Amino acid sequence: MRPKKLVYTHPRSERVYLVGVSVRGSREPLSLDDSMAELAELTGSAGGRVVGSMTQRVPKPTQHYLGHGKLDMLRELVREQDVDSIVCDDELTPTQQRNLERALGKIKVIDRTALILDVFAARAQTREGRLQVELAQHEYLLPRLAGQWTHLERLGGGIGTRGPGETQIETDRRLIRGRIQKLKRELDSVSTHRSLYRSRRQQRGMDIVGMVGYTNAGKSTLLNALTGAGVPAEDKLFMTLDPVTRQLRLRDGHMALLTDTVGFIQKLPPSLVAAFRSTLEEIGESTLVLHIVDVTHPNAAQHVDVVNSVLDALGAGDKPRVLVLNKVDLIGPVEDFPHISALGPARVPADSNTPVVLVSALQRIGLDDLLSTIGESLSERKPATVA
Ligand code: GTP
Repeated sequence: MRPKKLVYTHPRSERVYLVGVSVRGSREPLSLDDSMAELAELTGSAGGRVVGSMTQRVPKPTQHYLGHGKLDMLRELVREQDVDSIVCDDELTPTQQRNLERALGKIKVIDRTALILDVFAARAQTREGRLQVELAQHEYLLPRLAGQWTHLERLGGGIGTRGPGETQIETDRRLIRGRIQKLKRELDSVSTHRSLYRSRRQQRGMDIVGMVGYTNAGKSTLLNALTGAGVPAEDKLFMTLDPVTRQLRLRDGHMALLTDTVGFIQKLPPSLVAAFRSTLEEIGESTLVLHIVDVTHPNAAQHVDVVNSVLDALGAGDKPRVLVLNKVDLIGPVEDFPHISALGPARVPADSNTPVVLVSALQRIGLDDLLSTIGESLSERKPATVA
């Protein structure tokens, strides 16, 4: 069997029930309720219809993700509401997923990671984006293959009966590992190609300004507003998966390169971060990072934390930044808006004197101010020329 190309698999309008668990003492940036709201949005982006949700606080992770009482309730609800699939708010262990599927009567159980991968698979446009998503899907699938062969266990189980199932799994694993190696090689060559371009641009003395932000913050809209690039901007999560780089004219006439990257989200699956390494490398190579925030979002401050921690994980935590508070056209007088004070420099590394600029990418408000701030931040980075 050749490993199948993994593609967008989520049927339209599946009836989905959401389940979320918070383990006491764990520190996630978003509260359980907010995380569930985001999960519902992701489910919608994947084409599912949310018919209900349940949450539970547990002292420690359980083998079924949920405690027994809630599991019984869920089994009832699944039947009553004709649910097609369950979506869990965390990445499940292969055992948790198998246990849940069994306990709920073979219903499809999807976790947050699989859902994000699904949304990514549907959005990836370029060859590189597709390679990256496929790599992440295979990496995710590999440890979960055993669960796909549970039908063989019905043959009896135990010593002497595992032969055909195990052999098949081993074959599949080998094929998938082979595919993973091939994808990595292809991605390496794309990434080498890009870093060559990058160093040529740098040799020409062009600064790279990298844009980061929580998904839907308005990065593509801002890139368009600043450079006139025709990048699609939509009110959907993860429209941008492929890095887009455009020339940016600064107010003093200098040119820089502005590059948009994949939107961040809390609990971004590690397999995805690894797969998108070459895309995210663009941030590591940039002279300045623009951190775009949707200031109208009730969880804007938490989003800033998530983005900061992903930047830290990428080793880009100490890059000079400009915090760009976007969508100010929606909020009326800025002073009246409660989130803004929570988003000031206290939210960004304290020693970095990060400038904060208010803009509306859509209504083109504050763009001159932003261009000046970018220009100033870049010139501060340059060594002073001796006359
Ligand atoms: P990802 O691809 O998920 O990373 O999204 P993104 O950060 O690139 O966001 P995008 O530019 O696609 O914008 C998301 C939505 O916000 C779109 O519907 C935009 O029209 C809207 N939007 C962006 N900027 C503004 C703004 O300044 N004001 C208003 N009102 N809406 C905005």
